[in-house]
Parts: sequence; structure tokens; C-alpha cells
Amino acid sequence: MEDGADVELEAWIESRERFDPPESFVEQANVSDPDVYETFAKEWPACWERAAELLDWERRWDDVLESDDAPRYRWFAGGELNASYNCVDRHVEMGRKNHAAIRWVGKRGETETYTYGNLQRETESFAAALRGLGVGEDDVVTLYLPMIPELPIAMLACARIGAPHSVVFAGFSADALATRMANAGSEYLVTCDGYYRRGDALNHKGKADRAVRRIDHEVETVVVDRLGGGLPHSLADDQHDYDDLVADHRNETVEPVARESEDDLFVMYTSGTTGEPKAVRHTTGGYLSHVAWTSHAVLDVKPSDTYWCSADIGWITGHSYIVYGPLALGATTVIYEGTPDYPEKDRIWELVERYSVDVFYTAPTAIRAFMKWGADHPANHDLSSLRLLGTVGEPINPRAWKWYYEHIGDESCPIVDTWWQAETGGMMITTLPGVSTMKPGSAGPPLPGIDAKVVDAEGEEVDRGEAGYLVVEKPWPGMLRGLAGDDDRFREEYWSTYSDPDADEWVYFPGDGAKVDEDGYVTLLGRVDDVISVGDHRIGTMEVESTIVGVEGVAEAAVVGTGGTLIAFVSTEMDHTGDATLRTAVVEAIEDAIGEVAVPDHVVFTPELPKTRSGKIMRRLLEGIATGETLGDISALRNPEILGELRARLAGETQSYLERED
Ligand code: WTA
Repeated sequence: MEDGADVELEAWIESRERFDPPESFVEQANVSDPDVYETFAKEWPACWERAAELLDWERRWDDVLESDDAPRYRWFAGGELNASYNCVDRHVEMGRKNHAAIRWVGKRGETETYTYGNLQRETESFAAALRGLGVGEDDVVTLYLPMIPELPIAMLACARIGAPHSVVFAGFSADALATRMANAGSEYLVTCDGYYRRGDALNHKGKADRAVRRIDHEVETVVVDRLGGGLPHSLADDQHDYDDLVADHRNETVEPVARESEDDLFVMYTSGTTGEPKAVRHTTGGYLSHVAWTSHAVLDVKPSDTYWCSADIGWITGHSYIVYGPLALGATTVIYEGTPDYPEKDRIWELVERYSVDVFYTAPTAIRAFMKWGADHPANHDLSSLRLLGTVGEPINPRAWKWYYEHIGDESCPIVDTWWQAETGGMMITTLPGVSTMKPGSAGPPLPGIDAKVVDAEGEEVDRGEAGYLVVEKPWPGMLRGLAGDDDRFREEYWSTYSDPDADEWVYFPGDGAKVDEDGYVTLLGRVDDVISVGDHRIGTMEVESTIVGVEGVAEAAVVGTGGTLIAFVSTEMDHTGDATLRTAVVEAIEDAIGEVAVPDHVVFTPELPKTRSGKIMRRLLEGIATGETLGDISALRNPEILGELRARLAGETQSYLERED
């Protein structure tokens, strides 16, 4: 919650400030010609060939774009390539085998460096091992691993043999893993014995084992020994030790399989507006072209760069901009397993200094935490290696933007505020750092070749400055190709709101509100559906609410998100009270069904939720209570007396939360 002075400052920054990229940046930028926007518009869709040309193709495409089966577009149709070849082998062939591909820093300060030569060897051995277990082309392999080097290695090994991977975030529960594996029909799982969290060894294999027991089909499991005996574990007949398998296949050659451009590279489960997570399908040619191009044009990644994206590989940001984008360009990518405040709150800056990081990409939630910890932490380190900063995941408020610009970038690094989603595969709306003026609080114009607009409920473009719904009117290479096994839902969720199928007009609806200013810069206003984005986590409120409602004694629940905080308002049944026992039951139910990431920061018990006369929960009012903003029109509310009560209870809950934290 901001105080008055902050609100004023924000307004001032918003109205006054424009920042141009420094001349020294522009001079060396991968893309610095302002004509790029016009060229892309004029040459669309052929303009996208320059993205595809950043890759090596086994066979060149016949058509850039085929639209006859829209909204199932096909990009670079007829082309053939392999993602693992593009991210690993070709750099080795170019004589860069001793160049660092991955710099890994573990939770206990351990470090490992994989050169492109090492990465090729490891990828090939593990690809051979997967084949040895029976993995064939198009078999889905589930990867349930924390941020350890075996995760990107397994992704690349899958890509090498044409087996789509499905990475499930390590913080998800056994139930969540089982649902995803069953849904994908995945018969192969790569996991580990355990990992450290706040100094304790967590039993990860236990969760994986519980998941596999719940799946009807057979599963072959590979177990990485992350803890080096720190958590003794035994292996059943269908479970294999990662190191043993790799040793068995050490010198085998596995040629990268030529995949058709439209063949799946991976599926990624993400939260939607209904309870069930959905499996977004990404293809080899279009996705890899899109992430390589945006890494080049937006993140300005060069082969000589050390680049660090602080997301988790378990989410889309990590797939696109820790693994595939930077490795396709032959850069060094930092993979950090730890947390930003351990051992000290300067951890990130210590590592930026140690590895001379050139480009740093993080989420606004993280920046707000850095602000809270104070500018001394970055000031104690030499951050002069930094050339460019980026943010993703949620709108960045101008004050946080300014702080990042001054205290991390020393006023000499452009900032790219990048809007995109799991479904878009890669960045869609952001300034080009070598071309555009930056305006704090606004992501920027749509990227060249991206046709995004803001429309009203009828699909008419709104006036400049007016709020509406963001839509994308033309296809783009990194777009999702469908939801695995659910074509109806694919059309329903993304293409039904503004499309006109009879006229064969397809408009993509991402689910975000936005406005556009006089220069065509887009300011994102948050989700308009029941999905909450916090940093790199994306949570469906329905998923959490239906879990809470399943707890004995709970009548109804509404979950809202604000500024990185998740709040659950829970009404209890007549003969139950919202006490500590019920709170524990709610928390445990969410941990079991989804995982710790979805556990709300606050659980506010209430005799009833604010409802309209027709019985609909007024979510907007709960959001207002959560942010402390004025509530506006409450005439539709049947039980206005509940508002004061809810405010008081939230204040009490926040207080006890602070006490718990201490
Ligand atoms: C939100 C993460 C404002 C948005 C890459 C989107 C943003 C959702 C930004 C996707 C940004 C992402 N400014 N909002 N720069 N970037 N979002 O699929 O609501 O985990 O729809 O992808 O995050 O979340 P997802």
C-alpha cells in the first residue's frame, strides 16, 4: 500500500519522465535501426524469416506462414531443425567448445561451469540413456527437478531425440505432478532425491513416488542424486540412478533428430480460468525462432555475454530466457538455485560482480524486495559489467523502475519491461533497447511484427488513453499451437471472445486489460480473468478456491492477488469457526493439491463474503479491501455491513502474520 507521497511521485514520474538509451548502448546494440518497425510491417510475415535465420536448419522452410487451418497456424512449414543442435552442437562446431554455456550456483554456494563441449557430452549421454529406457520420438518426458544443471541437460536431451518435455515446477505437490503426468500420458519421469530449502534437506523423491503411485500407467523414473547421500534413498526396479545411466551410455553418439518445424518441442502446464491446468503446446521452429530473435533484439544477448535471468526453469520465463534463447545464441547463462537473500541480502549483486554479468532479467516483485532491503546492498558491489536490465511477469510501478534504473543500472543501462505469457512463448510488447525511448510504467510498443491493440467489449479499438482489453490480431512464430488433447478449450479460451470464425478472422485474447498512449506505448492493467500473476508464478484463483472449498467446515472462498500478495477470504459453515486448526487445514489442503506456491499469504475468515443480490461474490470489492483503495459503487451489494468487518479482519490477520514472521 502506497502512502500519499509515493502516489504523487509516481504521478510525477509518469507525467514527466522519458529515458533514452545511452549512446554507448545504441552503438553496440544488436538492433538499433528505427526502421525495423516499418520493415516488419511492410514485409509481414516474411519479416519473421530473420528470426528463423538466427538458427541452423536441417532443411529450409517452404512457407513462412500457413493459415489455412487457423487458429492453428503453421510457421516455417516444411522446415526441419533440432533445438539441441542449435543450442549446443553448432557452437561446438564453430570452435567454441571451451566457452562457458552454463554457470551454475547451488544453494550451498557450490559452483559448476559447463562449457559448450561439456554440455554437448552430457546432453548426448543423457539422450542415449533416455533412448535406452525406451523413450521414442514424441513420447512426453516429465522433468520434476529443482534448479540444478541436470534440468537444462534433460531438456536438451529430450529435444535431441524429439521427445517433448513437460517440466513441472519442483515446488508443486505430488497431486499436481500426478495430474500433469496422467493428462500428458507421460511414461517417463526425471526427478531427484531431494534438495535444500532454508538449510533443510527436502525429500523430493518421496513426492515423486507418491505421484507415480497415483498414475494408472507404468512409469520409468530417473533419479538424480542431488544431495550426494545426504538423504539416503532406495531405487525400485523401474527407477534408475542418473549418474549410473549416464556412465553406461557415456561414449554413445546420438545424432540430433531432424524435427519438423511444427513438431512439438515441449508442453508447459499453466493456470487458466477454470480449475484444470492446461497444457500449452510449443513447437520447434516457431518457438525457437521467436525466443532466439527476442533474446537477440530485446535482451541484446551476444555470444560473449554472461546473461542472468533469475526466474525458475519450471516456468515459461526460464524455458525461454534461461535455457533456449541464450543458449541458441551461444551465450553464457547463469543458473542460480538459491534465494536472493541468502547468505546475505546482497547475494544477487555479489554474483553479478563475480561473473561480470552483462544482462540481468528479473521480476518486479524481486525489485520491490531489493528496494525494501536498501540501496547499500548493490552499492557495495561493482555492477559496472551490467549493460541492460529487464523485467517480466507483472506491471512494474514507476518508483520500482526508477530504483532499478538508478541503483542497479547506474543510470546507464536501458530497462526493457517485457509483456508476454506462457501462451505467447516469447516477448510481445516491450521497447527495443537500442531503438526506443523508455517510459517507466509502460511496457512499450508491440514488438516489430506483433499486431497488438486495445479494444472495448465489442472489439472496437478504444481511444488513446482509454482502458480496454488487449488483443493480438496477427499470428506470431512463438504462439501456442494448441492445448494438448483439448482443441475445444484452445478455441474457447483464446479465440472465442473477438474472433469471427465465419469471416475467418482470428483474434487472440490474452486475458489482460491495457491502455495505449499517444505514442502507441502499452500500459498493462492486469488480468481481467481469474488468473493471478506474481513474479514468475501464475496461479488460477479457481484452482485454489476449489481446493479451499473442499476443506471440511469451509462454505465459500474467494482468492485475490495484490502487489505480490495472495489473500484468501474464506467463509465458514454455521457450526465451524475460522480458528488456527481450520487455517492449518486450508494451508495443508493447498499444499497437497497444488503446492506451496499457491498457499495464500493471508487467510481471512469471515461469516460471509460480499455478494450481489443475485448471490454473486463481488471480487472487485475484495480486491479493493486488499489494496486499501476506495471501493467505488457498492449499490449492487446485498450485505454492505460485511465490508468494515472484512477490513478489520484483514488488518488483524496482517498483524498476526507480521508477528508470525518475527
Ligand atoms: C502478466 C510470464 C505486466 C500478464 C512471462 C500476463 C505482465 C501474465 C508482464 C502471463 C509485464 C507478464 N507487465 N504484466 N511486463 N509480463 N505479465 O504465463 O498478466 O506466467 O498475462 O508468463 O503475466 O504470465 P505467464
